[in-house]
Amino acid sequence: MKKMFITFEGGEGSGKTTIINRLMQELKDKNIKAFQSREPGGSKISEEIRKIILSVDNTKMDYVTEALLYAASRRQHLEEVIKPALKEGYLVICDRYVDSSLAYQGYARGLGIDEVYNLNYYATGGLLPDLTIFIDVNPEEGIARISKNNRDKDRLDLETLAFHHRVREGYLQLVKRFPERIKRIDGNKNIEELYSEIRKVIFESL
Ligand code: TYD
Repeated sequence: MKKMFITFEGGEGSGKTTIINRLMQELKDKNIKAFQSREPGGSKISEEIRKIILSVDNTKMDYVTEALLYAASRRQHLEEVIKPALKEGYLVICDRYVDSSLAYQGYARGLGIDEVYNLNYYATGGLLPDLTIFIDVNPEEGIARISKNNRDKDRLDLETLAFHHRVREGYLQLVKRFPERIKRIDGNKNIEELYSEIRKVIFESL
């Protein structure tokens, strides 16, 4: 089957953004109609919700509130941006989607993968990606990369290393649960090797 909705997942500093940018360039060079987006955000309302979720001032945020806000942001983005793009025949590449909520809120925060899946099922009407690339990076390495890039830290970057290990474990559970859809790629390698492995999986599926 032709894959039209592809998402990227992974912990902090997994290299998703760099890989997606390279992929978009290659798709453009090959004249493949592709559209890039990201979560949380990707539309005006969703970006406003993103600011609330990620603000370092909102340390009091309850975990269920957090899961609901991600789901609300996702719903808006899906209706306003993703569904119309798919309808127009674009290949949609999205940086994070439902699996982020399952790994971060469901598993790492302890709300339960099933509970967060049900919430997201309602928010998305059950629309899952055709293919998900999970870039699996050792959390110590990922966090070291972020510090080196000097990127501004958001509320989730301030979490402990133990939290980021739980996020990784959560993703590994999702790989077992959705083996057909989620492809785990070992991200502990240089960006050239990583890109060539990922592009192979994607171009084989198109
Ligand atoms: P972002 O800066 O987009 O992260 P990254 O560059 O690592 O992709 O920030 C998004 C943060 O929100 C990131 O820490 C993951 C987290 N997140 C969740 O906890 N649940 C979700 O459903 C989504 C989409 C993101």
